[in-house]
Amino acid sequence: MTTAAPAAPPTVRRLAEHAGGSVTLRGWLENKRSSGKIAFLQVRDGSGTVQAVASRAELSEEEWEAIQRAGQESTVEVAGTVKTDARAPGGVELQVAGFRLLHLTEDYPITPKEHGTAFLMEHRHLWLRSKRQRAALAVRSEIEQAIRDFFYTRDYVLIDSPILTPAACEGTSTLFQTDYFGDPAYLSQSGQLYLEPACAAFGKVYCFGPTFRAEKSKTRRHLMEFWMVEPEVAFLEFEGLLELTEEFVRELIGRVLERCRGELAQLERDPAPLERAVAGGPFPRITYREALAILAEEGVPLAFGEDFGAEHETRLGERFGVPLMVTRFPAAIKAFYMEPDPEDPELVLGVDVIAPEGYGEIVGGSQRIHDHDLLRRRILDHGLPLEAFQWYLDVRRYGGFPHSGFGMGIERFVAWMCGLAHLREAIPYPRMLYKIYP
Ligand code: 4AD
Ligand code: MG
Repeated sequence: MTTAAPAAPPTVRRLAEHAGGSVTLRGWLENKRSSGKIAFLQVRDGSGTVQAVASRAELSEEEWEAIQRAGQESTVEVAGTVKTDARAPGGVELQVAGFRLLHLTEDYPITPKEHGTAFLMEHRHLWLRSKRQRAALAVRSEIEQAIRDFFYTRDYVLIDSPILTPAACEGTSTLFQTDYFGDPAYLSQSGQLYLEPACAAFGKVYCFGPTFRAEKSKTRRHLMEFWMVEPEVAFLEFEGLLELTEEFVRELIGRVLERCRGELAQLERDPAPLERAVAGGPFPRITYREALAILAEEGVPLAFGEDFGAEHETRLGERFGVPLMVTRFPAAIKAFYMEPDPEDPELVLGVDVIAPEGYGEIVGGSQRIHDHDLLRRRILDHGLPLEAFQWYLDVRRYGGFPHSGFGMGIERFVAWMCGLAHLREAIPYPRMLYKIYP
């Protein structure tokens, strides 16, 4: 049996569909201008903001007085007629026929004047209401949906990996330790290790959840808690991994360009670099060694065996102007699980995608070691506790198989899409060095 969906109540986003009709909206008063006879109210209902025009002659004395009292961010109910007006954002405004003050707000802390970032961060719970923040988080939401669609339409199975873990995945220097009934446990740095066994169950899997890094670095590219999406695919080898990575990044950029034009405009984000990224040919691919040669030319030389710093990534990103795939890094600067390059065992089959415009590494991935003894040796070489990895070695004991995957931190991607100067605006409640409030 199917039942007809009830008609959705009118929202600001869909107000144009009600042109000429009468509607009632509930929301918050963003701003107000008033003369003795007429008031212009900017009302936000969550889906958007509309101008409601109230004229004293058409309202009761009580309603007019409530409008006068209502401060910024008061909760209001406005009833009225939807009028088309080409000059209004969204093409409509509301001619007010009724007004109720549902909750009086006085002295809202965030006023239309400029505030410092420290102040706004202290008021993140209220800052979310402002136009820029709403636009950035709407883009984030669209990207998360695009990620799920990407994997769902390609028959991946979602595997929710645990957050409390007994061992490190990405090095021991950034672990958040907690007490697990008397034993140490760590907040997950990545779901990857738990995805690999699931590959043997489902073939193509992905996880998407919060990950944690106690990064003692105070940069615009680092958060302590961020969301990572990670696919892992059985029998996928390095070349296939590079193709999957590129297809994924391209599809997400395409989705933002297709569905988020309004938000990009609100953020004053020039879409041209994003259009360039998907319009050109395949993403350029260079090896780590080739990257070193370029960096030397750029005047920021790096010795073989050193990892890129922010400046190196920025230079590489600028040089190409589109997402750049750097491959085959020295084993010494990468995680223990990466498969050696058969042509040069000093290197590993890893890939980083570096975004242009100074956004740095957005994706890190690799083919995984599938040989049991080699992996065991690497665990020991990295000073990791072998007992904690027995289950992980089991993937190489019982039906071993080549496999590959990558991880993308979505705040870095969102920041790039939106042109944000800092990752803190790409997540609703950022966790940063020594900052956990609110
Ligand atoms: O390169 P990373 O450390 O790779 C992994 O964790 C792998 N286990 C992923 C995999 O192969 N399944 O991290 C992956 C991505 C980075 O490229 C970056 O986008 C993001 O996670 N990232 C951070 N984002 C914000 N703040 C931090 N502190 C981040 N550290 C990594
Ligand atoms: Mg990395």
